[in-house]
Amino acid sequence: MSVARLFASLILAVVLLPLQAQAQPKPAPFVFPQACADCHGSAGKYPVRGVRSQYLTSGHRTLPDASYSNGEGCQRCHTNEGFIEYAATGKSDPKVTIKNPSEVGCFTCHAPHERGNFSLRKENPVKLANGVMFDMGKGNLCANCHQARVMPKDEVRSRDILREPWGAHHGPQSDMLLGTNAYEFPGKAYSSSAHASLKDANCVTCHMTQPTTARYALTPAIGGHSMKLGGEVHEVPTLNVAGCKTCHKDIKQVPRREVFDIKASADYDGDGAIEPVQDEVQGLLEKFSNKQGTGALQKISNPIFDAKGKFVENNKTQHPLEVVASLYNYKFVLEDKSRGVHNTKYAVQLLMDSLKSLDKNYDDSRRPK
Ligand code: HEC
Ligand code: HEC
Ligand code: HEC
Ligand code: HEC
Ligand code: HEC
Ligand code: HEC
Repeated sequence: MSVARLFASLILAVVLLPLQAQAQPKPAPFVFPQACADCHGSAGKYPVRGVRSQYLTSGHRTLPDASYSNGEGCQRCHTNEGFIEYAATGKSDPKVTIKNPSEVGCFTCHAPHERGNFSLRKENPVKLANGVMFDMGKGNLCANCHQARVMPKDEVRSRDILREPWGAHHGPQSDMLLGTNAYEFPGKAYSSSAHASLKDANCVTCHMTQPTTARYALTPAIGGHSMKLGGEVHEVPTLNVAGCKTCHKDIKQVPRREVFDIKASADYDGDGAIEPVQDEVQGLLEKFSNKQGTGALQKISNPIFDAKGKFVENNKTQHPLEVVASLYNYKFVLEDKSRGVHNTKYAVQLLMDSLKSLDKNYDDSRRPK
């Protein structure tokens, strides 16, 4: 190549390159995909951000069990990934441990990226551990996980109770709501309060109805996706009555206490006063174990709870059936955590029959029919 030609091509390059750059198309103005805007846009169709701030206060997000309860069948209820598999296949392989498990969250209960909306991932009726069908609308979603894991007769057969988690497992709310699958003493008849037969008295109505009270009244930590009925507002315990009000027009909370003001039909705990249902049931629970050490399961030989109410670990005793059955029912009502609201009659019947089996002199004349 001659020097003149090299020079010419250099000139060309200097002149043409900027021209070429100018000829390149301008980047298109940024357009956020419409398919995403319903949920991720500034003014989306769905209240994703508001819902998220409620969800962040929920036990689903705050009790970090996804890693601990991963495998051995636990992952079906305790991890997002396990539940998605279970919803799709009806199974969850107990031998598999999920890599990078995440907590129960938006994608557990919804499938927004597949469906483009917030319909529930799984809404069909649920068969509980004893075969009874749970069919309560949107509450069916919850029943997949909030159910007793075992049949009482299987659990009660093992008479040595070595570990505190023994029993129905922490969330027997669906069984309690229907009035089924606790230890039912032979010869006793069991029944349920009204909620058991009302499809609209379901998990979602009571736990997720949004309160409509004025400002200052509530926080994201009550109602909606917090799924909590109670919390604190200005350090005052506050209950969400919005869901209850669809049926109990005049319901209130006992002022400054996390107790609904619905009176029990009788003085179930025998303390001489007819109190709200939750106080009566709490009174009955304390007859099994309490801080004073006078509870029925504290006074038996080889007690289940010590004088302070703490579970006695590694108690290798072969307990008699009435002790094991009573413990089963006590834990069933305790871990239901509604203090009788889910199903007052069933809860009271279970507790009274258990106390009677532990102490033949126990006065069960106020047992509801
Ligand atoms: C029907 C509602 C909905 C639509 C439509 C939607 N998303 Fe999402 N998306 C969500 C929700 C809910 C989350 C989780 C938000 C949270 O965790 O708070 C999410 C999370 C995400 C994340 C974070 C990663 C993750 O897994 O948490 C990305 C990235 C994302 N979306 C992208 C998109 C894109 C891209 C589109 C459009 C093609 C889209 N989304 C459309 C509801 C939607
Ligand atoms: C059928 C669904 C289901 C299965 C299976 C299950 N759990 Fe749970 N578990 C729950 C539910 C629901 C709760 C929460 C109940 C509540 O708060 O009332 C819970 C609560 C717990 C808690 C207490 C959480 C806390 O911090 O308060 C622990 C610990 C736990 N489970 C461990 C396990 C382990 C370990 C396994 C497997 C051996 C397991 N779970 C299997 C549904 C299940
Ligand atoms: C444990 C299950 C569960 C989880 C987790 C969950 N949702 Fe929901 N979500 C529901 C149920 C049930 C409803 C229906 C409530 C109703 O009909 O009142 C619902 C309804 C919705 C709605 C419709 C509400 C409305 O007012 O239109 C949106 C939006 C939504 N969820 C978003 C989310 C987002 C975002 C997350 C995660 C931050 C999330 N959900 C996590 C169960 C869940
Ligand atoms: C995929 C299983 C699953 C589904 C579905 C589910 N939950 Fe849960 N829920 C859990 C687990 C597990 C916990 C305990 C938190 C943990 O250990 O991660 C829990 C905790 C809770 C708590 C908090 C308890 C506490 O001690 O703070 C409430 C209230 C609750 N769930 C209500 C609901 C309602 C109402 C629905 C239906 C709309 C529902 N859950 C659906 C598994 C589930
Ligand atoms: C009739 C209304 C009602 C229905 C229906 C209902 N709940 Fe509840 N639930 C309550 C009340 C009231 C409490 C006690 C709340 C408190 O003390 O803060 C409660 C407590 C709980 C708790 C313990 C919450 C905590 O923060 O400790 C869980 C978990 C729960 N319910 C889950 C469910 C599930 C799952 C269903 C459906 C199978 C259900 N509930 C149906 C009213 C209801
Ligand atoms: C779908 C309707 C419905 C909803 C929602 C509902 N209830 Fe009820 N509840 C009833 C009916 C009907 C009865 C029986 C008649 C009565 O006592 O008013 C009842 C009875 C009760 C009882 C007494 C049970 C007994 O046998 O003594 C309590 C306690 C109770 N409800 C609390 C609540 C609370 C708290 C909420 C909200 C968290 C609630 N209910 C939501 C319909 C409902």
